[in-house]
Amino acid sequence: MPELTYYPDEVLLQKADPVSELGTEIQTLSQQMLELLRDAQGLGLAAPQVGRGLRLFVVDLPNDQPRTFINPEIIETSVEESLLEEGCLSIPGTFAGVLRPAGVRVQARNADGKLFTLSAEGMLARVIQHELDHLNGVLFWDHLSQRKRDRLQKKYRAPQSQES
Ligand code: NI
Repeated sequence: MPELTYYPDEVLLQKADPVSELGTEIQTLSQQMLELLRDAQGLGLAAPQVGRGLRLFVVDLPNDQPRTFINPEIIETSVEESLLEEGCLSIPGTFAGVLRPAGVRVQARNADGKLFTLSAEGMLARVIQHELDHLNGVLFWDHLSQRKRDRLQKKYRAPQSQES
């Protein structure tokens, strides 16, 4: 089973590669990521968060079906923005309000390799943008002012840091 990676793991700070081969290996990975996401009680999880530099993420919101996004592209964003609090399984214990477009239109492939387009608003739009950022090595605190980010980074302790 894949395991969570935590900031400042290198894989979280790098741009992920497109998924070139769709098939059982990617289906298994997305299934395992959805299981991990449920166990961790998160809303979304990107492949770099399990140590894989691939353009793939999964989303599982209450009252919605679990969704897999492979090689996703945001093709439209709303002018309207919203401020919502975000956290991240790879930066546990850290939360902040982040301003982003309120709605997005995204194109991606699902776990079966089928191309789809989805218009999302509210929490779904928010999680999609947060997870897509992960594929570009961007973390939610990168959207904050330098001062707010510094404050969060100073307080943050990686779960594995006790080992060293
Ligand atoms: Ni995250």
